[in-house]
Amino acid sequence: MESNSEQTPLENQISMCELLATMLEDASHSDSQEGFFMAALMRAFASDSFAHRLFESQPVIKQPALLLAAAVKYIVDQGDSEDLGKYYPKYLLSGDVISPEQVLDDNFPVVVQAFLVKHEVKLRSLMEAHWYQCNPPQRVAQLAVGLAYVTQDWPDEPMAHIDVGSATGIGTLLGLVEFIDKDGATIVKARDPQTCVSTLLLGDKRPPADLVLPEIKERFALDLDPPDIHDEKMLAWLRACILPDVDSIKRWNKAIELTKEKGVRVQKGNAMDLIPVFEAKLPPGRPLVLTDTYVSLFMTEDQLVTFRELLAVIGKRRPVIWLSINAPMPPGPVGDHTTSGIVLDDSVIAREKKESFATLTATTWRNGIHTNEVLAFMHPVGFWIEWIAQ
Ligand SMILES: C[S@@+](CC[C@H](N)C(=O)[O-])C[C@H]1O[C@@H](n2cnc3c(N)ncnc32)[C@H](O)[C@@H]1O
Repeated sequence: MESNSEQTPLENQISMCELLATMLEDASHSDSQEGFFMAALMRAFASDSFAHRLFESQPVIKQPALLLAAAVKYIVDQGDSEDLGKYYPKYLLSGDVISPEQVLDDNFPVVVQAFLVKHEVKLRSLMEAHWYQCNPPQRVAQLAVGLAYVTQDWPDEPMAHIDVGSATGIGTLLGLVEFIDKDGATIVKARDPQTCVSTLLLGDKRPPADLVLPEIKERFALDLDPPDIHDEKMLAWLRACILPDVDSIKRWNKAIELTKEKGVRVQKGNAMDLIPVFEAKLPPGRPLVLTDTYVSLFMTEDQLVTFRELLAVIGKRRPVIWLSINAPMPPGPVGDHTTSGIVLDDSVIAREKKESFATLTATTWRNGIHTNEVLAFMHPVGFWIEWIAQ
C-alpha cells in the first residue's frame, strides 16, 4: 500500500484499513464471498482506538493493520477464540461452509475490541516477532502471463529464474502454474502444468491468445529473512496471513505443498549479493528471468538504481527479463514512477489515491536493446487483472 507523506503513520493505517475494506467489498473485483469478513474486520479496526494503539506499536513498513489481522487470526486458529471465532468463515474452523454475511451482526466491532483488549500482550508479541506475508499463488500466474507475453517471439529455449524476496519460495513455481480466467478460458499454458489458478479479466483488452510459458531449467530463490515452511509454527503464522476465504486457503495450501515437494530452498541474503552468485552458476547465454512481487517496493530510490544497474550489467552477458508486481509507485518524495523507473500517467496516479492495486511491469535487456513497459494492472492478491499492453 502506498504511504501518503502528508498523513501521520496512524492516519496512514486507518486510511489503509478503509481502502482495503472498500477493495474487498467491491463485488466487481472479487468473488462474491471473498474478503467479506476481512473487510468487516478492517472497518472495525479503522474505528477502534485500541486497534490504533496496536498499529502504533509497529512501523508502517510492517503494514500494522494487516499484521494485526494476522495476529488475531493466529490466536483464533489456536482455538482461543471466544466470541470472535464464530464470525470467521466457518469452513476454516469446522469444514462447514457458512458465509460471513450469515453471522456478521452489529455487535461485531464490540467483540473485536474485547478480543484486542483481552489478548493485547500476545498480539503485541506476535506483531513484534513477525512480518505480514501472504505469498498468494495468483501472483505467480500473473508473472507467468507477463513472461509468456514478453518471450512470445523469442527463440524457444530454456531459461533460468531467480525469485527475489521470495519469502516462502512459492514464486519458484513460475512455469508450473497455469492461468485461466473465471470462465475457464486459458490465459497462459504451462508445458508442465502442476496447478492452476483463475482470475477475473477486467477491461477491454486480453493478453494475446495461445501464450505458452518457456521452459524454466534452473530455479533460485532468495530472501533477506525467509520463513521456514517446514516449521509448523511458522506455517500456522503464514496461514493466519491469508485472506480467510475457502479458495484462497485451498490455493495457498496446494502451492505450499508443491513448493515443499520441489525441495525449494530459499537462500538467505540480500538481492544485490545473491543475484551475482546465482548468475555465476548459469551456462553462458542462458536467458535469466528475475521476478519480484512486492519486494522492490521496499527498496530505497538509491537501492533501486543499484538494482537496475546490476540487471543492466548482467543483460550485457545474457538476455534478462525483470518482471515486477508492486504497488504502482514506491513510497517516497517523487512517487510518480514504478520501481522499474516508468513514469506513470496522471490518471494512474489519481487512481492509486482511491484504489489499491498493483502494476505488472516487464523490463528487458537483450541484444543491446532495453525495454521497460507496464503490462497490466491487478488486484494486490490477484483477484483480477486488467491487461493494458498493446
Ligand atoms: C512483502 S514480502 C513479499 C513476499 C513475496 N514475494 C510475495 O509476493 O508475497 C517482501 C519480502 O522481500 C524480502 N526482501 C525485501 N528486501 C529484500 C532484499 N533487498 N533482498 C532480499 N529480500 C528482500 C523481505 O524479507 C520479504 O520476505
